[in-house]
Amino acid sequence: MRKKLKKSVYLVLFIIILIGGFFIYRSFSNNNKKYYSDEAIKVIEEENLSDIYKEDYSKTLDTILKNGAYEAEYLEEYLKIDYVDNDNFTSYISKFLNIGYNGNEINNIFKLSEKNQEKLLDLEKKDFSKYIGISNFNIDNLERYDAYLEETNKDIETVVTYVNINLDKPFYEDSTLVENPHDLTVIVNKYHHLDKDFVPDNLVTLFDSTNGAKMVKEAADAYKLFIDAAKKDNITLQSTTAYRSYSFQNILYTNYVAEDGVELADTYSARPGSSEHQLGLAVDLNDPTVSGSRLDDKDYNWVLNNSYKYGFIVRYTEEGVPITGYMEEPWHIRYLGVELATKVYESKLTYEEYYDLYMMEY
Ligand code: DAL
Ligand code: ZN
Repeated sequence: MRKKLKKSVYLVLFIIILIGGFFIYRSFSNNNKKYYSDEAIKVIEEENLSDIYKEDYSKTLDTILKNGAYEAEYLEEYLKIDYVDNDNFTSYISKFLNIGYNGNEINNIFKLSEKNQEKLLDLEKKDFSKYIGISNFNIDNLERYDAYLEETNKDIETVVTYVNINLDKPFYEDSTLVENPHDLTVIVNKYHHLDKDFVPDNLVTLFDSTNGAKMVKEAADAYKLFIDAAKKDNITLQSTTAYRSYSFQNILYTNYVAEDGVELADTYSARPGSSEHQLGLAVDLNDPTVSGSRLDDKDYNWVLNNSYKYGFIVRYTEEGVPITGYMEEPWHIRYLGVELATKVYESKLTYEEYYDLYMMEY
């Protein structure tokens, strides 16, 4: 009798646990459903998407359903798209699917910068898959990358950087006006020119100048520290020219062209508007103890490896010739401020490459 009683107690307990378990399970699955709108639940039922109630099934599909963006024809694609925590996630998926991208291509789009993603919204479908992971990729230049890649044997990263710099075009063919000429970090070269009326603020005469050479004050102050440090290391340097106006550069360049012709003159002189000297941030050096050239190897070595400590870089190096379009100029230094000059020096890149890779936002 007692045994029987015990047995039925167990049975009752077992039934209670079973019923309890059922209710707990139901409340869990209802909880899942609770996150969806009635409309989404209708879609889930009609489209047989109840797998979505399983945990970790597809956060992308889950997000699409919750946001009411589900389009039946794209189910396969939703399931391929990795979830990205991005405010535009749902709307971008719908827009890119409508443009014609598939799920895998959309995964690639989300690996691009936000600026590139935004630009892609207004373009027809593009194939940029080979450029994924290149930090300075700019969708605006896609066709030019593809063309340059065909015509050169450079690696893909170099192609992207060179095209961004404009090296796929002849020098001076497509020069744009510099919009921020007072910025210390500005690029002036054969693709970026200054207005003919641009004159920097704050020009002061260099402390060692015999001919009134001027630089922007910050650069002129740094220049003195640089020359003093050189002196301490037994390197004697002095300035020859620094700031040059547009009209003076015009006279110089015109004379060089008359002497040597355009092609040669272009390898050593900037055309008016395209010289860093107009910025008041460049100075040419000379060692008065050396005859026959402006600097000897010892001077150049010192300048190359020390000028950054005072905020200057050697702007036209031998390795940089194909990029700057100028022959090596050991004497021409450009002020960038200590922090940036140090980074450019350490990168061993030309300023054009450094600027494109680390300062541009694509
Ligand atoms: N010699 C340099 C390139 C200039 O003319 O600015
Ligand atoms: Zn110079």
